[in-house]
Amino acid sequence: MENFVFSNRTKIIFGRGTEQQVGVETAALAKKVLLHYGGGHIVRTGLKARVEESLKHAGVSYIELGGVQPNPRLSLVREGIKIVREQGIELILAVGGGSVIDSAKAIALGARYDGDVWDFYTGKAEPQDAMPVGVVLTIPAAGSEASTGTVITNEDGWLKRACDHVILRPRFAIMNPELTYTLPPYQTACGAADMMAHIMERYFTNVREVDLTDQLCEAALRSIIKYAPRALEEPENYDIRANIMWAGTIAHNDLLSTGRIGDWASHMIEHELSGIYDLAHGAGLAIVFPAWMKYVYQHDLPRFVQFAARVWGVDPDYHNPEKTALEGIRRLEEFFKRIGLPTRLADAGIPADRLEEMAAKCTANGSRTLGRFVELTKEDVLKIYQLTV
Ligand code: NZQ
Ligand code: ZN
Repeated sequence: MENFVFSNRTKIIFGRGTEQQVGVETAALAKKVLLHYGGGHIVRTGLKARVEESLKHAGVSYIELGGVQPNPRLSLVREGIKIVREQGIELILAVGGGSVIDSAKAIALGARYDGDVWDFYTGKAEPQDAMPVGVVLTIPAAGSEASTGTVITNEDGWLKRACDHVILRPRFAIMNPELTYTLPPYQTACGAADMMAHIMERYFTNVREVDLTDQLCEAALRSIIKYAPRALEEPENYDIRANIMWAGTIAHNDLLSTGRIGDWASHMIEHELSGIYDLAHGAGLAIVFPAWMKYVYQHDLPRFVQFAARVWGVDPDYHNPEKTALEGIRRLEEFFKRIGLPTRLADAGIPADRLEEMAAKCTANGSRTLGRFVELTKEDVLKIYQLTV
């Protein structure tokens, strides 16, 4: 097992009706906030009105900035930074999913930096300081509510890039599973795929003797596999939604990476798809992850056999471990199909005519490799894209 530091400051307030506590939680940190949200589902469901009421009741004033799009855009981040500076905002309150939270984190970073906020996403600058961010989560998926990450798309070149730093963990995350009842089936499925991917990125490691976290990963995966199809059948079943919501946070709050080194190539390969084609990130992962697995499984056959046996219940064939490993990958792919996700580019209406460009973009034209489990060159990445056709 590797050495590690684990610290997660995000206060989780979980359960029915918890959005009513947003005013009190916010007031403990700020008196004037930016209320940041997306395309308006929170207006339609009445959540926005409840949040506003709670803020007013706690004596918190706010300025609104809606319009965050899935795969959040840099231009709106810049607009947010300007408002925050002009209006003396003290905290960014994100009400929505990963896109809103990531946009809020970007504003929080940019407002405390003299240069261009994009510098943090190109690696030109390292985060030193950020404003506090609070969250009311409406979709379990990205795990951004307690993660160190923010992912932003720069419309200039459609570059989708991530920035990671511990100062980006939100101060609090209010998580009421009832708020997820209104999620369309496709978004529910995309969320499940994303959280599974977060676990699998950590699971496929070269670090030995990490059975404790292996088993935590496997348990979280099995719960998502159990509950995601049921959420599609019973969207208003509280306990099903609650298990999924908590799994989404645990998948990406770094508990499952303690003592291990994760891979993360599939995420970088996927970000080109959602960056260029505006595909939902979870759908892109359902296409990329099985392809990545097919390309790398021989690197550590016993680990893929373990994945097949413990996560998918495949009866291991010890005379033919390759068959067992491939059956695990097949079941993952079948699962994604069963919950209504694409597993090939064509299923998502994406043509196969820009694979080389994407392989070049995500490896900085071949100057860097991707992944820690298996290091992938530009040529490897291209072969993985070809497996998605
Ligand atoms: O825009 P609104 O109206 O809010 O609608 C959203 C959006 O259209 C809708 N939605 C959310 N909650 C809903 C709802 N509709 C009805 N009822 C509800 N309760 O769902 C759509 C998708 O929302 P989005 O925030 O884009 O989803 P998600 O949480 O999957 O976030 C995806 C983004 O997160 C990034 C992804 O790359 C992508 O840009 N990621 C962020 C990470 C992080 N910061 O740690 C890690 C991830 O790997 C991921 O890369
Ligand atoms: Zn993800």
